Amino acid sequence: MAPDTMRAAYVTRLGPASEIHVGSLPVPTPGPTDVLVEVEAVAVNPVDTYVRSGGYRTPVPLPFVIGRDLVGAVAEAGPGTGFEPGERVWSNSLGHDGRQGPSSQYAVVPSGRLYRLPRGVDPHVAVALAQPAATAYLGWFVHARLRPGRTVFVGGGGGNVGTAAIQMAAWAGARVLTSARPEDHERCRAAGAEVALDYRDRELAARLAAHAPGGLDVVWETSGHHDFALAAAVAAPGCRILVTAALPAEPAVPLRTLYTHDVSLVGFVISRASAADLAAAADLVNQMMVEGRLTTRIADRLRLEDAAAAHRRMEAGSVPGRLVVDVAEDPGSPALPTRSGRSGPQANRGGEVTR
Ligand SMILES: NC(=O)c1ccc[n+]([C@@H]2O[C@H](COP(=O)([O-])OP(=O)(O)OC[C@H]3O[C@@H](n4cnc5c(N)ncnc54)[C@H](OP(=O)(O)O)[C@@H]3O)[C@@H](O)[C@H]2O)c1
Repeated sequence: MAPDTMRAAYVTRLGPASEIHVGSLPVPTPGPTDVLVEVEAVAVNPVDTYVRSGGYRTPVPLPFVIGRDLVGAVAEAGPGTGFEPGERVWSNSLGHDGRQGPSSQYAVVPSGRLYRLPRGVDPHVAVALAQPAATAYLGWFVHARLRPGRTVFVGGGGGNVGTAAIQMAAWAGARVLTSARPEDHERCRAAGAEVALDYRDRELAARLAAHAPGGLDVVWETSGHHDFALAAAVAAPGCRILVTAALPAEPAVPLRTLYTHDVSLVGFVISRASAADLAAAADLVNQMMVEGRLTTRIADRLRLEDAAAAHRRMEAGSVPGRLVVDVAEDPGSPALPTRSGRSGPQANRGGEVTR
């Protein structure tokens, strides 16, 4: 039985990270097709900061519990939901379109947006992968119509989305070329990239062309640092250029080259994905996590009390991996225990330690 109140990280108005409060809110009441989840951990995604600041416009109930992705256990579930109390679960589409976020001890999740956590999969790895890996699925299989044998480029292969995109494209039988800082090249190759190049290399287009003389079937610059002249130069006829992030500066788009080669610019956001597509993504993500074919970097594990600091770190620049907030942790405990009983950084199955 859930208590009446819970600890939560929330805002009462949209704005900077200093608007985030950690305090007590009523435990939400699930509707007939909802599930009440006792939250174990949440991930901190870039989009969490966009919604909190008001930069990404979406209906937000106030007070608004921040965040998007959770892992936890079913606390209460009606008979029509298909879930049982105690089942381990994850979700990646809260905190958007009028739904409350998950950075609280309990969260209501529509049953169609909740997925079982497979036995043996580390919950921190699952929550760190929840959004990047689902984005990879949507990119390759909903928007780029990836087929085995295609040759693709993943820009930003060392990032959360980029690494998941490499792993999923390689799983699907594609040949993957990527760009990353040299320190990340080995990780990119281990993820399944055949070729890893430095994203600062001035000869990047020529090197891509040398490795893919027939051109690239998909170009996905996951970092938002778009160079459409480069993309057009290396695109095979019919290529799809995926756009999932953008910097404030608007890059030039060589329209003549694109349309005369049947090249499409395809943009999408996971926020707008249907519950059916997200559920299909979750099936593959679960399968690949069980097979150990999706791995992630957990940059740091924090407490709910660190929610504002986590947002500031995201906004200050590139975090090497995913920040994970342990909601279930006792805020008074001095350091997070590892599974072996020691304090400090933790190596999980599928999760590298980066500190
Ligand atoms: N549209 C969607 O559905 C969707 C879904 C998820 C995320 N996103 C967006 O996707 C973006 C990436 O998210 P993420 O979680 O993967 O971020 P991330 O983990 O910070 O990864 C970004 C990567 O880009 C690399 N990078 C930096 N400058 C680069 C350059 N000039 N060329 C190529 N790569 C460069 C970074 O490398 P260094 O470490 O060397 O800096 C880092 O590895 C964010 O803007 C996020 O909001 C969109």
